[in-house]
Amino acid sequence: MGLRGDQESLRAGRESRERADAGDGPADQQVHEGALADLRGAEHDGCGRPVPIAPEARRHYAGYAGGSGITPFLSIVRTVLAGEPDATFTLFYGNRTVSSIIFREQLGDLKDRYLGRFRLFHVLSDELTELPLFSGLMDRDKIAELSKQLLVLDRIDYFFVCGPGPMMEGAQAAFAELGIDQSRIKMELFGTPPPQAGAKPKPDGAAGGETSEVHITRNGIRSTFALERDGASILDAALARKVDLPFACKGGVCCTCRAKLLEGEVCMDVNYGLDEDELEAGYILTCQAHPVSGKLVVDFDG
Ligand code: FES
Repeated sequence: MGLRGDQESLRAGRESRERADAGDGPADQQVHEGALADLRGAEHDGCGRPVPIAPEARRHYAGYAGGSGITPFLSIVRTVLAGEPDATFTLFYGNRTVSSIIFREQLGDLKDRYLGRFRLFHVLSDELTELPLFSGLMDRDKIAELSKQLLVLDRIDYFFVCGPGPMMEGAQAAFAELGIDQSRIKMELFGTPPPQAGAKPKPDGAAGGETSEVHITRNGIRSTFALERDGASILDAALARKVDLPFACKGGVCCTCRAKLLEGEVCMDVNYGLDEDELEAGYILTCQAHPVSGKLVVDFDG
């Protein structure tokens, strides 16, 4: 990408904004109230399975993502644009450098696929871009500036924000400055929770303190340990016991920790990486998986 398209993107963004200001084009369409009270919440159930959104909804969305915070957006943008034929989505995505942009290819594909409906602007903190607007941290000032320059604020139905804590705080402050009503803002903190942090809802039928027997095979080596059903993920529990397992994001994105569940049942906190076919074939993300049944047999070699 090299951000050569910044100038073009900015021009396109401004033209689109001017058309919207003039009441011409998609941004002038009527907003329907519908079932999308909380898109993020509506998109996945507790085990990360997609839930369709209302196809008659015709809205305009803005998104602000930082680093790994892009992961929910991939699903949200895909779902909105596929499910709402008249929706538009503008996404601002902050990263340190071009090489640290994750899902760059997938985002580019979405842009090609939804030309005119999906606008994507990259903002880099550690690399110079052609335009100062796209350089710097996604902090309060940057978010306010991007929003003012590239959006028609009163025509945006929902503002989604997902990223690290400081970016979320900056976004809240920017939205307050811009006078955006809280009801239009959907925030989600995205990061890697430390092992066993936070209260994870227990799967149905799992009593507190109850343990499961976990059998893991990797490179032909088998490890067995007991794991609390409402505690750490399978991956974290195994790593804590010095079992050598592959992982990268620990956020349900990269699938590096993918393994096949040969026996038993698990529940995953989130799943941004596995598709329906893989789920049906029995694959799980061990960084997100917690036991539901009394015995699990997990195979990393399959
Ligand atoms: S480590 Fe990336 S999905 Fe589990």
